Amino acid sequence: MNILHKILRCAAVPLTALAVIATAPAAMAREPFTKEELKAMSDKLTESAKRGYDMWYGARADMANNGLACANCHPDTAATNPHTFPKFMPQTNKVMAYRDMVNWCIENPQGGKALDVNSADMIALEAYSFYLHNGVPIETGLQTRQTSPPTPKNARGLNVKGTGIGFDK
Ligand code: HEC
Repeated sequence: MNILHKILRCAAVPLTALAVIATAPAAMAREPFTKEELKAMSDKLTESAKRGYDMWYGARADMANNGLACANCHPDTAATNPHTFPKFMPQTNKVMAYRDMVNWCIENPQGGKALDVNSADMIALEAYSFYLHNGVPIETGLQTRQTSPPTPKNARGLNVKGTGIGFDK
């Protein structure tokens, strides 16, 4: 058994860890954020969710080769169940993250080009879908078509002037 394992098995460690946190210099602590900082952070997230909203309704042509957008099958993010991921998906026979399932839908029902899983656009799709499921309890692994419904009124708060095929211009 190496030294790390010995330390990890020692019951006193959590207390020691707490003591370290308690005595850490104030400069290390990030919170509390100022009101201005919180607003700036929230604005960044909203910006990402807005981009996701636009993409959901077809802003990126390369995500489909058949004129479909996420919203055709998942209006207001219905049946995407972000709060149930990661979970085992029978069609790939493995545990998948939400973003992997987004790419699965881009490539299969939409016949489009998968997104880089770490790209700002992939995160924007996640931001939008999670935004509409805000407050829904996490139920990782739950196998279902639709659990708790999304809250479309949240999306109206995003006030997006969409560029995708799904928005009236
Ligand atoms: C033509 C219809 C269609 C389109 C368009 C479509 N999907 Fe899907 N999507 C499905 C179907 C059908 C399933 C269920 C697949 C399964 O469970 O085997 C699904 C499942 C999902 C799931 C997993 C839900 C769960 O609980 O297992 C996510 C997430 C998802 N889609 C996101 C998207 C996103 C994001 C887009 C747009 C990029 C999109 N889908 C476009 C039909 C579609």
